[in-house]
Parts: sequence; structure tokens; C-alpha cells
Amino acid sequence: MATPIASSTSISFLSYVSLFLLLCSSKNGYALGGGEKKALQSHFHTVQVNYFLSAFVCSPSTKDKRKGASLKVVHKYGPCSHLHEHNKENAPTVTEILRRDQYRVNSIQSQLSQNSLKESKATTISANSGKSIGTGNYIARIGLGTPKTDLSLIIDTGSDFTWTQCQPCFGSCYPQQDPIYNPSLSSTYTNTTCSSHQCSQLSYATSVAPRCFTNTCFYGINYGDSSFSQGFFGSETITFAPFYVIPNFFFGCGEYNDGLFGGAAGLIGLSRNSLSLVSQTSSKYGNYFSYCLPSKTSSSGHLTLGNGGGNSTGSSLQFTPLLSNSKASSLYFFDIIGIKVSGQTLSIPQSVFKTAGSIIDSGTVITRLPPAAYTPLRTAFRQQMKQYPMTQALSILDTCYDLSKYSTVSIPKISFLFGDNIEVPLAANGILYAGNASQVCLAFAGNTAASDVAIFGNVQQQTLDVVYDVAGGKLGFGSGGCS
Ligand SMILES: *[C@@H]1O[C@H](CO)[C@@H](O)[C@H](O)[C@H]1NC(C)=O
Ligand SMILES: *[C@@H]1O[C@H](CO)[C@@H](O)[C@H](O)[C@H]1NC(C)=O
Ligand SMILES: *[C@@H]1O[C@H](CO)[C@@H](O)[C@H](O)[C@H]1NC(C)=O
Repeated sequence: MATPIASSTSISFLSYVSLFLLLCSSKNGYALGGGEKKALQSHFHTVQVNYFLSAFVCSPSTKDKRKGASLKVVHKYGPCSHLHEHNKENAPTVTEILRRDQYRVNSIQSQLSQNSLKESKATTISANSGKSIGTGNYIARIGLGTPKTDLSLIIDTGSDFTWTQCQPCFGSCYPQQDPIYNPSLSSTYTNTTCSSHQCSQLSYATSVAPRCFTNTCFYGINYGDSSFSQGFFGSETITFAPFYVIPNFFFGCGEYNDGLFGGAAGLIGLSRNSLSLVSQTSSKYGNYFSYCLPSKTSSSGHLTLGNGGGNSTGSSLQFTPLLSNSKASSLYFFDIIGIKVSGQTLSIPQSVFKTAGSIIDSGTVITRLPPAAYTPLRTAFRQQMKQYPMTQALSILDTCYDLSKYSTVSIPKISFLFGDNIEVPLAANGILYAGNASQVCLAFAGNTAASDVAIFGNVQQQTLDVVYDVAGGKLGFGSGGCS
């Protein structure tokens, strides 16, 4: 099955898809023979094996299209990161990253099942129910205070709440690369009072009821892996770019923090919750943001607030509806409706994705699919990869190849079909995930239960412009947003 044949549909793909294919083929230098070979190639990425291995030199994207309220986004453990020095010795192994990724997915799944219980019982939130683990892969630098301190913070669409480590570290602070922000040196920091509206919103954003010290609101947040942050709930001026300054942003000034944050100074919450960065800046930026997560650990992307007058990304976008779900109103639900491998739509019954539901998450690394969607994907992929020797599984990844004897590899293209029937092709880095050249794996995993939510993770989002038009209720995708 799934023989790569040129069909008329593959030629009449939406124009941007064809452009994407063209760009890929020229970049990877195909030496095409006859028309037949060309047609066959259009369903495959031919890529250097080295391309999947981490780069060691920072070579920032040359197509930096950032403008407006935009921050540069880099991979936390990559050479372009400010945390690179810090992480040289401490960077987790690929196996460790995948292990933590599974913790995050478990915590999202349990959050979804817990909330249904919680709603029926309408009880108060228990103090130890953790939020999703905030150790995701991508960081952005943001200026905090007046004068500003530049801080590398993890960006997380699965988090409601923004916090950073603060001096004096009354409990303790974990080691971070940037100087620790000191509110007493900033002319724009203010403590939030216990009676404020914002303080009362903390219970939902952190899952822990705030406490009160000398009329100052005190927050605590626990992540599922025993990481935590506690401190004063303050407000401060944040700076995106010289002319993009936001006053009175509410955040956690953490004086007692610990956890696996990889030298980052804290976390930026980008969920739909009222305390997220997106919601707090909605009067100025219209509840709209976009990002591009760079593909290789060596390049850089962007996180941009607002739509910059209609076209902040510069790429042509396709939109799918954003859905809400009462079980987790702050997560970004949308519809995955199908998957194509080498131009062929896999036969997956509609009910499979409908039963589970789907979210997009910047903090989950590997896309998780319902078992009845993952199995046909794996089968089709293995079929197309028959010429390469398979090897042992890498943690949650069960379809791995030993490519150590190859300099290039030809992999079947994969695209995702989303609600309203848009087709989004994945970059080559969104298809394979490498431990090393002798263990290069299909970058997807199956969920355990059919009812577990599907999660479109950050490996698959790489190089796509992803637009969250929260106000307009839609999610946009464009190819080639960064490299
Ligand atoms: C904020 O409140 C805490 C606790 O009352 C206090 O120690 C700290 O000095 C206050 N900070 C400012 C800038 O007022
Ligand atoms: C944005 O601009 C690019 C080029 O500048 C154009 O190709 C694209 O169609 C525009 N997108 C939208 C949504 O207007
Ligand atoms: C890397 O390669 C070696 C074999 O050379 C293998 O034993 C090891 O498990 C591989 N994977 C990772 C993630 O390091």
C-alpha cells in the first residue's frame, strides 16, 4: 500500500504547499532525473542525516521577520541560547527529555480527567494538585522592571501564570544564567494587595489558594515533577522591544523556587487564562499572538503579541477553528481530522480524534496521538522506510532507524489535516527525532487510552508560523516562518 505515485491531487495542492515542496527540494539539492523521479521525490524529504543531530554553532536565522511586539525565541539547550553556557554540562540527555515529556503529558491527561471530577463535586482545589510541568523546550528573553533586567523565560501555551525568581531569595533560588531580578531596584514594581481582583484569580491559575502576608498577596505553584515557585504576587513593567513596553503586568516574584528549569529565570504563561500574558495584554494586542519555533537547535524564531495590523508573520496562513473545552478552559483545543503520509490520507475513522479531542501545546515535545491514529501512521511510515535498518526503541519512540552508515536519508512527507480541512505539511525535523545517528526515530507516540487527549507538540510545530487568534476563535498555520 501507499506507493508514492504522482497523482493529480498532489499537483493541485494549495499553492503554498507546492511552494513549500519547491523550497525544500531546492534547499536539499535534489539531483532529479526524469519526471517520474521528480514525482516520487515530491512525496519525500531527502535530508542529510547530520541535519537531525544537534548543531554546535549558533547560526541565527537569516530571515528574521520580527517586527512589533516581538521577542526572539530560541531552543533552551541550543547554542543560540543565553543558557548555553549554563547547560553545557547540565543539559539533559535525549532520553531524559523524553522521560520528562511523558511526565508533562501525564499531568495534562490527569488535569483533564481531574477537572471533570472537580466540576461534578464543585469542591475547592486541593493544594497539591500540580500544574503541567513547565520545563518545555523554548525560551524568549523579556525585559522586566525599570531599569529593565533581561530574563530568559520558558514560553508555555499550557501555563496560565508568569513568574520569575526574585531577590532576596528568602527560601532559596535554583541557579539561573541571568542575574536574578530584584524588585527593590525597580521603580515600577508594586506588591498586589490581598483584596485585589487579580489576587482572587490566582486560585485557578496556580491551582493553589493564595495566602496573605501584611496585606500582600502571596502565591504558590507546584508542577507535577516537584518543581515549584512561591513568592509575592506583584505587578511590573515588561519590555518586548524598545517601543513595546507594557506597564502593570501581574506576575509571580518567586523568592522560593526549585526545579528542572534548565537555568531559565522562570516561565511565561501563554494560555487562555485571565492571568496569562495574552489575556493581560489583550486591550493593547487584541488577544492575539503568534510564534515560530526554530527547527534546529542552532537557529532562532519569534514570539509576537498582536497581529501587527493584519500581517505580522508575512507568510500566507491557513486557519482552523479554536475550540473550547469546559474541562480545561485555558488550553487550546482544536480539531485534528487526519494525517497524510507520502500524499496518502491514512484511513483513521473520524470518531478516533473526536473521542479524544486535541490540543496544541508549545511545552509538549513529541506529538501524542490516539492509539488508533498512531498505529496506522507507524505502519505507513515503516512501509516507506523499509530500506533502512531498524534499531531499538528510544524511550517513548518505538520506530527507530540506524542511519549511521548513511549520509542522506529519504523520508516520507507527513502532513496533518485540521478542522475546516486545512492541510499543514511538517518540516523534516517534525518527522524524525534523533538520539544520535544510530538511533533516529519517528517523532510521534501513541497515547495509552483512546480517551486521552491528542497533543500537537513542539517538534511538529517547528518552522511553522503558528497564530493564536484567540479573540477571533481561530488558529493559523503558515509554512517556513523561521528556519
Ligand atoms: C512587598 O511585600 C513584602 C511583604 O509584605 C515586603 O517584604 C516587600 O518589601 C514588599 N515590596 C515592596 C516593593 O513594597
Ligand atoms: C502577508 O504578507 C505576505 C508577503 O508579504 C503575503 O504573501 C501573504 O499573503 C500575507 N498574508 C495575509 C494573511 O495577508
Ligand atoms: C547512541 O548510539 C549508541 C550506539 O553507538 C547507542 O548505544 C545509544 O543508545 C544511542 N542513543 C542515544 C540516545 O544516545
